[in-house]
Amino acid sequence: MPARMAVPKEIVSGERRVALDPTMAERFVKLGVEMLVEKGAGLSAFFPDETYSKGSRLIDDAKALYAEADVVFKVQAPTLEEVELLREGSTLLAVLQPHRNLEMVKRLRDKKITSFAMELIPRISRAQSMDVLSSQAAVAGYKVALLAANLCSGFFPMLTTAAGTIRPSKVVIVGAGVAGLQAIATCRRLGAMVEAYDVRPAARQEIESLGAKMIDTGVSAASEGGYARELTAEEKQKQADVLAKHIAAANAVITTAAIPGRAAPKIVTAAMVEGMKRGAVIVDLAAESGGNCELTRPGETYEHNGVVVAGPLNIPSSFPVPASEMYAKNLFNFLSPMIKDGNLNLDWNDEVIAKSALTRDGQIVHEPTSKLV
Ligand code: NAI
Repeated sequence: MPARMAVPKEIVSGERRVALDPTMAERFVKLGVEMLVEKGAGLSAFFPDETYSKGSRLIDDAKALYAEADVVFKVQAPTLEEVELLREGSTLLAVLQPHRNLEMVKRLRDKKITSFAMELIPRISRAQSMDVLSSQAAVAGYKVALLAANLCSGFFPMLTTAAGTIRPSKVVIVGAGVAGLQAIATCRRLGAMVEAYDVRPAARQEIESLGAKMIDTGVSAASEGGYARELTAEEKQKQADVLAKHIAAANAVITTAAIPGRAAPKIVTAAMVEGMKRGAVIVDLAAESGGNCELTRPGETYEHNGVVVAGPLNIPSSFPVPASEMYAKNLFNFLSPMIKDGNLNLDWNDEVIAKSALTRDGQIVHEPTSKLV
């Protein structure tokens, strides 16, 4: 019997994405699996039920859907109620964020669920097409640039009009990973003058290739796997002194700096914001993990001494069509090589499969999470 794979409706408040868009659901069906989609699952991402009709079966409610599913595709980690609905021994793929959801992890273990935390997929070149962190960060980087342009009191581009010439905005982008680079590209396309900063020396070439200028603070924090490490107090001070000058001259500041699995580093102090021009804006993409700016209030946009401080949350959800399509493609690229004649055969010798697993056979197989539990 072919594997039954299922797409429930996301139930976390404010989540508009769906784990599989109709195109990718159909591609799974072509591999011989049976695809079940909860009615209304794609609606908030603008994929109505009828767009899933090519080969997928629509199921009235979540309970009935989970009761039949061998494999469940989700965006957000399941609530404890959703874990209850999962069939014992079934497989789950989602952004599970285990360090934030330890009770969920224990229940997945106890129900012998094979769970994959998509954010744990190793960042090797073969797995780039499965990398949900990258795909969602690209969406977030684009959107955050538009948000900054929208909240900024001036034009981003230089404008030459009959009423005079308007100078372009200066934008400072802190953190030039996937999201930061996308934000640089978007701000450049809007015509702003962009300066960017990252602790990884490798970022310089990428920043410059997008037509932005690298802010040189003389601090390097390159670490394993291309990620940043935490800075020492002395390094942080040196970084702060240089950055403060650039931030004071900016019309918009976008911060995207993160350290995987930890709170975001505080880079922009209250004093730096107070040194900014009136009408300037700071948009903090790291708000989700506490924020890069001391004044960020996650989920809020407010004014401080004439500077707009925005801490938007779950930005990919606000752009649900491309975010869902890209996420779905990542899921397909991850799982499709493991499907033969409609059946799922996981190859545990494959490092991408092994390293992204969180629970399996009644065990927590991701070591850092196992230690936390
Ligand atoms: P991230 O979301 O963890 O961090 C964003 C950026 O913030 C990073 O560039 C980081 O260096 C920077 N940052 C951290 N602390 C900082 C500080 N105190 N000051 C300034 N900047 C700081 O990173 P993301 O975007 O997920 O990926 C980072 C890098 O990983 C990429 O640029 C790339 O080189 C590599 N990567 C490799 C992939 C692959 O080979 N499959 C896929 C995606 C990324």
